Amino acid sequence: MLVRLIYASRASTAISHESMEGILSASRRHNPSNGITGVLCHSDEIFVQALEGGRDQVNQLYVRLLQDPRHRDVVLLCYEEVAVRRYSSWTMGKVSLDKINRSLLLKYSSNGTLNPYDVPACATVALLDELAATAAFAVRD
Ligand SMILES: Cc1cc2nc3c(=O)[nH]c(=O)nc-3n(C[C@H](O)[C@H](O)[C@H](O)COP(=O)(O)O)c2cc1C
Repeated sequence: MLVRLIYASRASTAISHESMEGILSASRRHNPSNGITGVLCHSDEIFVQALEGGRDQVNQLYVRLLQDPRHRDVVLLCYEEVAVRRYSSWTMGKVSLDKINRSLLLKYSSNGTLNPYDVPACATVALLDELAATAAFAVRD
């Protein structure tokens, strides 16, 4: 049973290159053996992450994530059973919103910034879909 889970959170401290490296190295350590793929999108202070894989594996990772002090205000945006993975190319693809065309962000927001707390969940999900379709995520293996 494959599921896809998407959540947003606020970083506890400003997201630095080093903090992203720490998160991505944990993802590289654990995700392949757990059959998890996904993408992690961030601004200076916001994370949006999509996780897909077996239901038990995704649920267990989400429980770990909820306890991670590096972020807070975790809000579940989408949880669904799926037949096909959308992010199968990424152990944990990463994109910084600073690198994204502002017009793309404007398409899904009122002011061209990512605020998943302020827009319908479907807008954030659609933004992730569009980023994946345009291969905006860096490949990590
Ligand atoms: C925004 C965010 C995303 C994360 N994504 C993942 C992930 O995809 N896979 C993972 O194993 N850990 C992820 N982590 C880290 C976990 O919360 C946890 O610290 C880690 O899995 C523990 O691994 P360790 O015991 O090897 O240090 C993430 C943490 C944060 C803050």
